[in-house]
Amino acid sequence: MKVIISLCLFIGAVSALNNGLALTPPMGWLSWERFRCNVDCVNDPHNCISENLILEMADIMVNEGYKDAGYVYVNIDACWMANYTDENGGMVPDPKRFPNGPKYLADKIHALGMKFGMYQDLGRLTCGGYPGSEFHMQQYAQQFASWGVDLLKFDGCHSNPRDGDYGYPVMEFFLNKTGRQILYSCEWPLYQLFKQEYINYTAVAAGCNTWRAYHDIQDSWDSVKETLDFWGNNSGNFASLTGPGSFSDPDMLIVGDFGLSYDQQRVQMGMWAMLSAPMHMSVDLRNIDPKSKALLQNRNVIALNQDPLGYTARRLLVYTAPRNQGIFNVWKKVLYQQGSYALAFVNYSDQGTPNTYTTTLGQLGLTNASGYNVTEIFSGMTVGQFRPQDEFKATVNPEGIYLVKCVTM
Ligand code: GLA
Repeated sequence: MKVIISLCLFIGAVSALNNGLALTPPMGWLSWERFRCNVDCVNDPHNCISENLILEMADIMVNEGYKDAGYVYVNIDACWMANYTDENGGMVPDPKRFPNGPKYLADKIHALGMKFGMYQDLGRLTCGGYPGSEFHMQQYAQQFASWGVDLLKFDGCHSNPRDGDYGYPVMEFFLNKTGRQILYSCEWPLYQLFKQEYINYTAVAAGCNTWRAYHDIQDSWDSVKETLDFWGNNSGNFASLTGPGSFSDPDMLIVGDFGLSYDQQRVQMGMWAMLSAPMHMSVDLRNIDPKSKALLQNRNVIALNQDPLGYTARRLLVYTAPRNQGIFNVWKKVLYQQGSYALAFVNYSDQGTPNTYTTTLGQLGLTNASGYNVTEIFSGMTVGQFRPQDEFKATVNPEGIYLVKCVTM
């Protein structure tokens, strides 16, 4: 009962978009980071943004366990359109790359038991220079609904960042008006961040199911670290505004791509789970290392991501040990089960040996006198029982993570 009351109080404190969607962070696949705006189906038919690519990914998601693990949104990002509109100003899919149109794709994806996402932009043009939705929002919302779209990623290029404050809610209004449930994935705060303008996170969280708060992720460890630091700094306290219905979005998972070591991939996966982040993989699922695939499908980490409280982990401290023997970032996530927490120890040091951070659970705010059962999350292995004053050692690989769940005894 206590759990239910505290959950209700928590939800009450968060003013989330009330369309019944994204009660836990959405999971799926999104084309952008890995496939970008490759429109060259003549020379690169295997990798261009096309009906075939999207359907190939959807099939693999079903046949190779991703769907069962929870990844159900299949999302096309930019560059699906022709660079012209129809005689009524309506959106037109590129006729060569999407010969059967979005409705056909949506039907196929729905028949697989999955959901279909598409992309548009608030401004006159999309970032890639295709027709944007300015002056056409109602019309485009209706087009998306008629095609059977389940998620809209709404970008902010070619618009004044301040206009986001009314433009994003207008699109939300028109999406709701279609009567179709469409998860609303915004880039509203990002464009204001670019220009260092004031960001009304309360309005953003109230108006969007997911909201990109930081720069585009790139295929590098630096990019992952910078993104994590932004959440760690939590300027404007945006992390307190997340919860069921509305999640801050640190952008796609790049697990299985070119840029990260295996340990760095574990950091991204584990920390996106700690942050209750949307988990959209952007990777070539046809050609993925089995270890990366297993990581993406790790049920314990996914359960951490999908924890019903939807809490965004806070960074408790950064500690640089003498002689570069560890640069530890310690994070804490409050879990739905009363008295339970997840702790992440991320090591930024690149010295080639694991480093140990010694602390007590009490020092990290876990003060239940009877102690905690601690398990390592990736493996599910028991670590032991710890009272708040007991010594607790986290040994972390260079540029790696140690992730534990602590349940009150
Ligand atoms: C912006 C967005 C990206 C992606 C590209 C597409 O940069 O932030 O996520 O959608 O546009 O052009």
